[in-house]
Amino acid sequence: MLGANSSVNERENIVVIFHHPYGQLRVGAEGAASSAAVLVPGALRFPAAAAAAMALADLYTQYNRVWIPDAEEVWQSAEITANYRPGDHSLHLQLEDCTEVDYPVEPSALPPLRNPDILVGENDLTALSYLHEPAVLHNLRVRFVESRLIYTYSGIILVAMNPYKELPIYGDAIIHAYSGQNMGDMDPHIFAVAEEAYKQMARNDRNQSIIVSGESGAGKTVSARYAMRYFATVSKSSSNAKVEDKVLACNPITEAIGNAKTTRNDNSSRFGKYMEISFDRKYQIIGANMRTYLLEKSRVVFQSENERNYHIFYQLCASAQSPKFKHLQLASAEEFNYTNMGRNITIEGVNDHADMKETQKTFNLLGLKEDFQMDVFKILSAILHLGNVQISTVGDEKSSVDVDDKHLNIFCELLGVESDKVAQWLCHRKIITTSETVVKPMTKHQAVNARDALAKKIYSHLFDFIVEQINKALQF
Ligand SMILES: Nc1ncnc2c1ncn2[C@@H]1O[C@H](COP(=O)(O)OP(=O)(O)O)[C@@H](O)[C@H]1O
Ligand SMILES: [Mg+2]
Repeated sequence: MLGANSSVNERENIVVIFHHPYGQLRVGAEGAASSAAVLVPGALRFPAAAAAAMALADLYTQYNRVWIPDAEEVWQSAEITANYRPGDHSLHLQLEDCTEVDYPVEPSALPPLRNPDILVGENDLTALSYLHEPAVLHNLRVRFVESRLIYTYSGIILVAMNPYKELPIYGDAIIHAYSGQNMGDMDPHIFAVAEEAYKQMARNDRNQSIIVSGESGAGKTVSARYAMRYFATVSKSSSNAKVEDKVLACNPITEAIGNAKTTRNDNSSRFGKYMEISFDRKYQIIGANMRTYLLEKSRVVFQSENERNYHIFYQLCASAQSPKFKHLQLASAEEFNYTNMGRNITIEGVNDHADMKETQKTFNLLGLKEDFQMDVFKILSAILHLGNVQISTVGDEKSSVDVDDKHLNIFCELLGVESDKVAQWLCHRKIITTSETVVKPMTKHQAVNARDALAKKIYSHLFDFIVEQINKALQF
């Protein structure tokens, strides 16, 4: 997948499909389709390199076009104005703005040749005569800019551009149009890849996987969701429709607790996900199982400028005034250290209050009861209050927490623990040796770290526990 921005720390996203005793599709995170590999344009090598270089030199003749690197545009097109002779150290070119240049070249590294226009805009990159980075980028750009087409094949790999805009290409009618069709007969689409996996599972009776790979913000999570929607829609049986809805319902919940706003993506998954979807002999969904990894725990206690903590915290704070949540004693997310570090608690176009309703709705759909939900919300609120507990310096080596600290008391009340003990153990540690047990005070810095470590631990346990409960709800 290609995105407008580049990745630093993206951990999410594959769509993987698989089958089990019955037949199973996996939809998960991180990588490229079973039927896929990663395209490495710069890595094309000819077997007889020297001979090929000679033959290649013959192509650098007048009126042919090449791509040369450009600081702004990445690649710019240029036309050859004089035939290149092997051994020449420059290539005579005319740029698109009509300037003439003597472009220095190494005989072993001539600039990539540009494809004839007639080939450009093809729906499969393998149809191009020259397949290298500028050819790939140009072809994708022509398709996107001229025809608003975001999908292109490269053989069996689907390349997707992120349009950053809702396109009317994902409705049920489109799903049904792709259902039962061959990949080659239809326009490139995520549904075609999903259909191919579904069909191969049925035809060959074998597990299938789809892997979605790309930089942060490229559209992996969205694609994985569409692939799951495809399976849920095509395998719908009238008798057992609830299962498909449940499989889809795990997305809003895992996104609420595992996604956050980053500078690259307003809904960045901060964990790896691997989803298995199981089918019966009639190829209808009978259950699912999700595996998660590498949740970014540091985000619970720290966010960079303009980033947010996990969505669920803001959803809760936005619902603080609802009678049902009064006892959590929450306030605006601006009031809590753990939610206000990025100094911007809102996301454009997102209504955290409405999303809270959605989260609750999906919990209900999965059959996770109100009591369970309230326990989850209590723990999450306790984490926010813990982050506001004041730790003060006492002398050089010690620190303390006031047993009357408001947030300490709410934290203890929500979790049913004793506040004097929590106050004590936030600022002290117990060292047990073979001969004795020593209680050592901690400095404020150490105590703050210990408090944050506790918050991260509680959150990651809660995350795992919720995933476990979702998996139970998705069992067949
Ligand atoms: N196919 C698509 N159509 C419309 N918008 C998309 C599409 N794919 C991605 N987006 C937009 O880009 C944002 C980032 O995509 P996402 O799938 O979360 O990226 P990733 O998981 O690769 O980091 C989404 O929130 C959505 O707004
Ligand atoms: Mg993602």
